[in-house]
Amino acid sequence: MKKLILEGGTRLRGTVKISGSKNSALPCLFATLLTDEKCVLENVPNLMDIDSSCLLLEHLGKKIIRENGKITVLHGRKTDPVAPYNLVSRMRASALVLGPLLSRYGSVAASLPGGCAIGNRPIDIHLDGLKALGARSKFSQGMVRLKGIKLSGSMIHLKFPSVGATENLLMAAVLARGKTVIHNVAREPEIVDLADLLNKMGANIQGAGSKTITIIGKTSLHGTVHKVIPDRIEAATYLIAAAATRGKIELEGTCADHLHSVMDALSKAGAILQVLNPGGSDEKISCEVKKPLKPVNIITEVFPGFPTDVQAQWMALMCTVKGKTLIKETIFENRFLHAAELRRMGAQIEISGRQAVITGVSKLSGADVMVSDLRAGAAMIVAGLMARGRTGVNRIYHLDRGYEDMEIKFSKLGADIRRRK
Ligand code: UD1
Repeated sequence: MKKLILEGGTRLRGTVKISGSKNSALPCLFATLLTDEKCVLENVPNLMDIDSSCLLLEHLGKKIIRENGKITVLHGRKTDPVAPYNLVSRMRASALVLGPLLSRYGSVAASLPGGCAIGNRPIDIHLDGLKALGARSKFSQGMVRLKGIKLSGSMIHLKFPSVGATENLLMAAVLARGKTVIHNVAREPEIVDLADLLNKMGANIQGAGSKTITIIGKTSLHGTVHKVIPDRIEAATYLIAAAATRGKIELEGTCADHLHSVMDALSKAGAILQVLNPGGSDEKISCEVKKPLKPVNIITEVFPGFPTDVQAQWMALMCTVKGKTLIKETIFENRFLHAAELRRMGAQIEISGRQAVITGVSKLSGADVMVSDLRAGAAMIVAGLMARGRTGVNRIYHLDRGYEDMEIKFSKLGADIRRRK
């Protein structure tokens, strides 16, 4: 079985280049279904979830050309707007084909994404919004079938600012007749990036990044070239790993504006953070730890709050910080699976519902651990980097879904990490 093997204890030092955002590249790829013209996406990370999306797009008739972080999506052949189980089940984000296929072709059938380790993850908010735009839905044989020959703009209020639902509804509303106003939308940077791409394709979207988005529907969209934003979760993971090893690193190709909550938490813990050339194309973030860290409580929240996708890494960091740290998870119902693995490395963590209390120990000790989901895997890496002795991280296919060249990047920062095939 493939695994990552780490010998902990080295302080990370050096510079790491942050990849393009997985969570932005995925909706951007599916947005290309809204036109037959050529779309080029740049700064796309080379990850398993991107491979899965390309396979799904090819099944849906697109021709894909990939070269060095650039994906060109061309019209290949005409096809039925049907996303089958074998492709959708690889990745939950496949539900993002619903909006663009429905608005483009008037109907779509997609296998329903199931739950995953961190929670049920229903798509009711996506479907309620699409119905408000005029779609009718039917469920049979594990598929959701939506019909809406011509969608019409509407007023929609999301009961929760779901990232995926906001993306799906944006991609549906851009080709709907008239004006759509969506209240209580997600404000994550990935939403702004998708709206930027759609506007470059000829859409009329205003308000992305705020709580209300207004879309004036167009009859068609066209091709464009778009550079995907940097991956803020990958960036946060490297900053936390640097702090965990009491090291000193610099991130390149990143955007501090997307990272305030994580950088604030790190600063409160005692790390020294600096943004170099803020706003410039060569913006960098440096992180250094010179003295013992302090415990910092976090509550995960929608953007601009502390991201749920960084909660596991934060827990790993706090494991060796003297004192007690409280972590509250408000986004997903079951996102503490990494706690049991961290305990195997000597961490003291008590879980009660959606709260975790970590009592810092002086050192973790290396162990064989299992990865339950992508970010839990990142937590295992952070823990392994600071632990005494050897850590074997198993089920790393989760990590390959979301971290480009992880062991290469950590090796360059001085970590003793290698992949066993
Ligand atoms: C996206 C990210 C994921 C991140 C999450 C929250 C991608 C590919 N994934 O996931 O990494 O952890 O945002 O920041 O971008 N919910 C419902 N009904 C729905 C939709 C969501 O109840 O129809 C619930 C979910 O179960 C979850 C919460 O809302 O508890 C947040 O989900 P959502 O914001 O939709 O996350 P995703 O888009 O799936």
